[in-house]
Amino acid sequence: MSTPVISARNLTVTYRIGHSLLGKGVSLNAVEDVSIEIERGNFFGLVGESGSGKTTLGRAILKAAPITGGHVNYTDDEVSYDLANVTKAELKDYRKRAQLIFQDPYAALSPRMTVRDIIAEPLEVMGLTRTREETDARVREIAAKCRLNLEHLRRFPHAFSGGQRQRISIARALVSGPRFIVADESVAALDVSIQADVLNLLKQIQRDMGISFLFISHDLSVVAHVCDHVAVMYLGRLVETAPTRALFSRPRHPYTSALLSAIPSLDPDERGETDKLEGEIPSPTNPPPGCRFHTRCRFARDRCRTDVPELREMGPGHFASCHFAEEFDFTQHYGSAATAAK
Ligand SMILES: Nc1ncnc2c1ncn2[C@@H]1O[C@H](COP(=O)(O)OP(=O)(O)OP(=O)(O)O)[C@@H](O)[C@H]1O
Ligand code: SF4
Ligand SMILES: [Mg+2]
Repeated sequence: MSTPVISARNLTVTYRIGHSLLGKGVSLNAVEDVSIEIERGNFFGLVGESGSGKTTLGRAILKAAPITGGHVNYTDDEVSYDLANVTKAELKDYRKRAQLIFQDPYAALSPRMTVRDIIAEPLEVMGLTRTREETDARVREIAAKCRLNLEHLRRFPHAFSGGQRQRISIARALVSGPRFIVADESVAALDVSIQADVLNLLKQIQRDMGISFLFISHDLSVVAHVCDHVAVMYLGRLVETAPTRALFSRPRHPYTSALLSAIPSLDPDERGETDKLEGEIPSPTNPPPGCRFHTRCRFARDRCRTDVPELREMGPGHFASCHFAEEFDFTQHYGSAATAAK
């Protein structure tokens, strides 16, 4: 098997966020000790409640958030970079190879630029084309892949619907020829009917262009349908990662199981039978000792309050960090979301 496009080892992102009343520095680990591998050509999902560190992990992998501990390696057919120690020249090159699709297509596009100029800008900023003709040819090629025609290229963003705007954002992300894309809640702002259109486009890009994705989403039913592999974060830490089918059919961490049980079931017999996740996420500036999930976990025992659970392999490519992952069938307690898996 080829080297993963992204390999993060013990990645930590710490932010300093001010001072306490006693004048001591206060910091928080938005991401702590996270290790993941994204195989080439994979559609890799990242889920977890708000504030669990998904965006920060995606930004650290793009070298847009500080890597304060651990390593992130990027590898494609041509280059391999240790992102914690890249040179300026390597970082400039990495910017072409790894791109971000924003959450909000309304905020991301400059209202004063035509669609042609919006898509062309990365080419010009990165110096990837030499003549206007070359730029136009590349813009047209990528626009066509995103189902935008010549007429669209002449207009301004306000003339477009949310779904079309997101296709413009995707074209802009694709124009530099990336091998890896972080899509952070890229369909969350869209109507459900339009989400499918944009998701199909992302999947087509994955298949036809061989681009790997880190797909960040709150919506587990979307993740179940589009992702090959999924990672679950809680309060900055990775709690479970597995091939999609394994994660949805047999979660090995109570947090994953509780998240899955919150997916509305299509089966009327299953509705209302599941336990929902209760309570607030604790403050990341003062996370609970031991297992971070113990303040909300119905299976917590004494050991969970003191010992940090290691991530352990539970099956092929399936890892979970719960002291009792082997003991319980969590689907029995939280309900199974297996019907949602692809
Ligand atoms: N630049 C920053 N400075 C200080 N704290 C930050 C910064 N960025 C994120 N955080 C904090 O890090 C934690 C993780 O935030 P992050 O945005 O990565 O979560 P998320 O999982 O993407 O949440 P959401 O689902 O709401 O987008 C939060 O507690 C957040 O307040
Ligand atoms: S280690 Fe304990 S608190 Fe943490 S998820 Fe497992 S049972 Fe729950
Ligand atoms: Mg986020």
